[in-house]
Amino acid sequence: MDVREALRALEDATRRGLDEVLAATSLEDVERAEKSALGRKGPVAEVQRMLGTLPEDDRRTLGRAVNEAFETLRTAAAERSASLRGDVERGIVERDRVDVTLPGRRPARGTLHPMTQTERHVLDALFGLGYRLMDAPEIDSDWYVFESLNIPPDHPARTMQDTLYPVTPGRPDLVLRTHTSNVQVRAMEALEPPIYVVTLGRCFRRDVPDSTHSPVFDQAEILAVDEGLSLADMRGTLEAFARAVFGPEQRIRLRPGYFPFVEPGAEVDVSCFVCGGTGCGVCEEGWIEILGAGMVHPRVLRAGGVDPERYTGFAAGLGMDRVAMLRHAIPDIRLLYEGDLRMLHQFARSA
Ligand code: PHE
Repeated sequence: MDVREALRALEDATRRGLDEVLAATSLEDVERAEKSALGRKGPVAEVQRMLGTLPEDDRRTLGRAVNEAFETLRTAAAERSASLRGDVERGIVERDRVDVTLPGRRPARGTLHPMTQTERHVLDALFGLGYRLMDAPEIDSDWYVFESLNIPPDHPARTMQDTLYPVTPGRPDLVLRTHTSNVQVRAMEALEPPIYVVTLGRCFRRDVPDSTHSPVFDQAEILAVDEGLSLADMRGTLEAFARAVFGPEQRIRLRPGYFPFVEPGAEVDVSCFVCGGTGCGVCEEGWIEILGAGMVHPRVLRAGGVDPERYTGFAAGLGMDRVAMLRHAIPDIRLLYEGDLRMLHQFARSA
């Protein structure tokens, strides 16, 4: 091989090497192409080896050409590698791309529990009559739940059968309230007459669950304390309330009933909205018992710091579960407290 042949061989090797490098689609391909052109057994090395046998002039010319071939191929290989690495990065970016042009995924929205729907309805009716909401604790002292309500220590309502007692060190007087009537004396302490309050909430009794009993249940309580309130005011209020909750055709009926904290006391029935009063499976001869009520006992007024010579009052307590069951024709009270979505979806109504 003379110098001209050697130069041509270098040119060929460089062109072939460049083609291979440019055609490479992976970093490994680039490396392989670079090696086969520039490696110790490659064409460039072969020319390099013959340099020593050449006269000075030729050696310089060919030596420069060899260096250029190295230079050209190395640069090309480095550029190709860099561009391939860029492709890899672009691939990652592409793969991780988030398409924000799609509509967002909508989370399932909850709906109002039938009890909540009923609560809102009841509150609405009472707010319309000028009552305001007041809270009373679910765990309260014996005083507010029983004693101040004229329920003496030996009254059957507070025996172990009915009342649940939380274990609270240092507070043996605490009970889980068995009714919302614990709001009565609290309201009289917190407010000056005229008092018109409603409270809603959980109550607890030691009952075995069945279709009409749940150890956890909900009541609403109404309390009015003002000058000159009479049984007629109570009746009118409860009738307006029943019409707001059950429909404008409703009538109510008062029967004598005993509760230690009212005198006189009454069981209040509403006319059956299923049969309209003729008698059916839901009612008893056209009437449905819905609440207990009465004129606040003078002892209870006094316990709340209210002068019974000047003020009178009435109170009523109603089973919210019962109202919800009647309004929605729910046959078992337990359905209201189990949170079973198959049941709740049947009453789906959002806020
Ligand atoms: N607290 C009574 C009950 O739980 C209901 C009631 C309230 C009766 C207010 C009269 C007056 O049964």
